[in-house]
Amino acid sequence: MNETFLKACRREPVDHTPIWLMRQAGRYMKEYLDLKEKYDFITMATTPDIAVEVTMQPINKIGVDAAILFADILLPLEGMGIGFSFDKNHGPKIHNPVRTKAQVDAIKIIDPEEDVGYVMEAIKILRKELEGRVPLIGFSGAPFTLASYIIEGGSSRNYVHAKTMMYQEPEMWNLLMDKVADVVIVYLNAQIEAGAQAVQLFDSWVGALSPRDYVTYVQPHSKKVFDNLKGDVPKIHFGTNTSTWLNLIKEAGGDVIGVDWRIDIGEAWKSIGYDVAVQGNLDPTVLLGPKSVIEKNVKEILASVDNRPGHIFNLGHGIIPELSVDNVKALVDMVHEFSQR
Ligand code: CP3
Repeated sequence: MNETFLKACRREPVDHTPIWLMRQAGRYMKEYLDLKEKYDFITMATTPDIAVEVTMQPINKIGVDAAILFADILLPLEGMGIGFSFDKNHGPKIHNPVRTKAQVDAIKIIDPEEDVGYVMEAIKILRKELEGRVPLIGFSGAPFTLASYIIEGGSSRNYVHAKTMMYQEPEMWNLLMDKVADVVIVYLNAQIEAGAQAVQLFDSWVGALSPRDYVTYVQPHSKKVFDNLKGDVPKIHFGTNTSTWLNLIKEAGGDVIGVDWRIDIGEAWKSIGYDVAVQGNLDPTVLLGPKSVIEKNVKEILASVDNRPGHIFNLGHGIIPELSVDNVKALVDMVHEFSQR
């Protein structure tokens, strides 16, 4: 088994820097689009055999050092009593955004086996399929990012409804965040129990907050999640637009801190301390460029962390559909080649 990813999470020396890519399965890949001709996204994510097939596509095609379960951060919402769908081209849509105390009270803590059993089933199948190859990463949305969808009703620019609740009804906000944190805890623990060998908490939109508001309204809830995860599997804590307060992300928890491309990764690592591993941080759009530009960026990122044990190569955020498989594969090969110890 290729254990470089798990070793790097534990900050152990490796013979090459491991790489995996957020959204490594998806629309940039023909095999994914072929399946999408037949099934909609929710069907793909909630049918174990299809989710397994999609998870395996980038393992077979581009040679990454870890698999990430094909699912979505919004899947637990159904079991919380919050209906949603994915509109073609408009992203996620929550049917009745949560804005009142009565709605917050009505939110249920999921029963993972009952409500998202298909995720655990996919994990179990994947562990068998992956045996001897690469480790499997499970994941969940973080309390703030999930709450932002639950309250806004979809993607948002200014988080007007979420922040209105946060500032005007802090008790209601904290109750909602506490419930979401409880859901994240049981969901991730069920994934770990089912066989996930590492987990990533996606706080993709938390950079919309000031560091002060993060500490006041969000950090205690994210910390509660990390404090209650079981097992000795590595935990990755990822956010974007957080480069100026990565120390606060680290304080909340995680063995590996995700870094986006808005900061030099070596500088980021130095600022938060070498007692955690780091993951990142190529700007995904660099993969639009010619190979020479990709190569230059890969070399600079590798030079910036200087072979220090505990770097996992990744993008600063997910792959976008416009990228070519050829360039993505070239990136993986370059990281392997240029980081040979
Ligand atoms: O990384 C992987 O390969 C695993 C699969 C994965 C998906 N979503 C598949 C997906 C993961 C880890 C996610 C997490 C996720 N989902 C996040 C956090 C990560 C991030 O990107 O910040 C967020 C914010 C979501 C919510 C979400 N799901 C949005 C906003 C959208 C629509 C936007 C878009 O890209 O279409 C989705 C849909 C989604 N999730 C797709 C995929 C492959 C596209 C669905 C399709 O095929 O049309």
